Amino acid sequence: MRLDKYLSDAGVLTRTESARAAKNGQITVNGVVTRRSSGHIDPTKDIICYNGQKIIYREFTYIMLNKPEGYVSATDDKLSPTVLTLLPDELQRIGLFPCGRLDKNTLGLMILTNNGPLAHKLLSPKNHVDKKYRFETKFPVSDEDVKNLEGGVDIGGYMTAPCRVEMTGEREGYITLTEGKYHQIKLMAIAVHNQITYLERVTFGEVVLDTNLARGEWRYLTEGEQASLEKRASKIPAESLEKHKGPQN
Ligand code: URA
Repeated sequence: MRLDKYLSDAGVLTRTESARAAKNGQITVNGVVTRRSSGHIDPTKDIICYNGQKIIYREFTYIMLNKPEGYVSATDDKLSPTVLTLLPDELQRIGLFPCGRLDKNTLGLMILTNNGPLAHKLLSPKNHVDKKYRFETKFPVSDEDVKNLEGGVDIGGYMTAPCRVEMTGEREGYITLTEGKYHQIKLMAIAVHNQITYLERVTFGEVVLDTNLARGEWRYLTEGEQASLEKRASKIPAESLEKHKGPQN
């Protein structure tokens, strides 16, 4: 593989920057300075350093972000900052996108990746990946409301799939969905004559929001977290995926 492609896939340098860095003698391959960024390297064997720092190569990148309020889950937006802008520059140019969307005022666990097929499989309605949210409501939620929400409610002509609701107070609790329609939880609350006042995603499949991350902070997924997503995605063959726009979150 070309050295400049390796460095750009790793989110370290663009191809133009690689050419400049190589000319300046900032790149070594197995300890030897290379002046040609178009040269070939073997990512499985060669050790590449930039300014003396060993590069960790990733074919795909997986990020956990603790989404703050006010950011949109998109790669670009004319009006509001996107979640991508919370990442350092080098991670903004490797094709990362949010794996499912959260509303602008929803907080918490957001996974970003540049592995399109994996994200597509995880978000497929056929995959039923559990997503757990902590919520607060304006009015108390009765046992009857919980029963209705769990059984499925009509949100504008769509009956929601069965879900789990665990109340931790009369106006707060957790809801776990296996689907992700647009504004689903807010619309479900409206269906039982209530209103969501706080919403935070805490899990996505087996991945749990890292409580060490402050709002707006990110980290790479661990190998275990990544493996759990890959395992989940592998349950669904690519050819069975629908071509049309998938679910929201
Ligand atoms: N349901 C919502 O209403 N909003 C979100 O951001 C996620 C789920």
